Amino acid sequence: MEVKVLKSEEINNEVSNRIINLVNSNKNAILGLATGSTPVGVYKKLAEAYKEGKVSFKTIRSFNLDEYIGLTEDNDQSYRYFMNHNLFDHIDIDKNNTKVPCGLGDVEKNAKDYDAAIDAAGGIDFQILGIGSDGHIAFNEPGTSFNEGTHIAELTDQTITDNARFFAKKEDVPTKAITMGLASIMKAKEIVLIAVGANKAEAVKELINGKMSEDWPCTILQKHNNVTIYADEAAYSKVTK
Ligand code: GLP
Repeated sequence: MEVKVLKSEEINNEVSNRIINLVNSNKNAILGLATGSTPVGVYKKLAEAYKEGKVSFKTIRSFNLDEYIGLTEDNDQSYRYFMNHNLFDHIDIDKNNTKVPCGLGDVEKNAKDYDAAIDAAGGIDFQILGIGSDGHIAFNEPGTSFNEGTHIAELTDQTITDNARFFAKKEDVPTKAITMGLASIMKAKEIVLIAVGANKAEAVKELINGKMSEDWPCTILQKHNNVTIYADEAAYSKVTK
């Protein structure tokens, strides 16, 4: 696990450059994308690079990590809406090639089909991750089995409280989500996790110093062979050398 402590702007530059280099060298690249406030800066840089003619996403495919259960695509809190608004509408990617787990209809079947679709596409080349304050990645909450594929998850009160800032009130936050599992995420060839801000410090400490445990889902990354953790000073502040 490589760890880089940088300023947020430097993290955005470095991660977006890694994605641009990958896309420019592999026209069939498959990106694993995340939502939340953390990757927004990276997505802005990708949109800028596209506008400047430095990269094209025309033949690129993507799979998102997760989606709330019960929100339609046009709901401005859905992760599909987030991705369109923050990235896909600003680059030349074919939206048919962008997948976000579907939180409507037969969600159990959707979950099963999602892993099958990733495998059929050849697997994720580059996975971008944020991290929850309780160490969750995607919506894999503490206690989730390391062996799970895409599944339906109950959100913890901590996550609902953390994510309530995007909704009018806490009661509006869905309590369930469809999420790629830890086993699905671990299949990605290359993983980058970004953590910014003091509220991520405990999770980053467990990720780097902690014992691998399902109590801290992020610690599964310790056994992946190509992971880079990008943290700013605040998120890194509790790590012991
Ligand atoms: C949500 C998402 C995660 C994300 C986390 C942190 O729970 N499901 O993928 O990493 O929030 O969000 P933020 O980047 O806004 O701190």
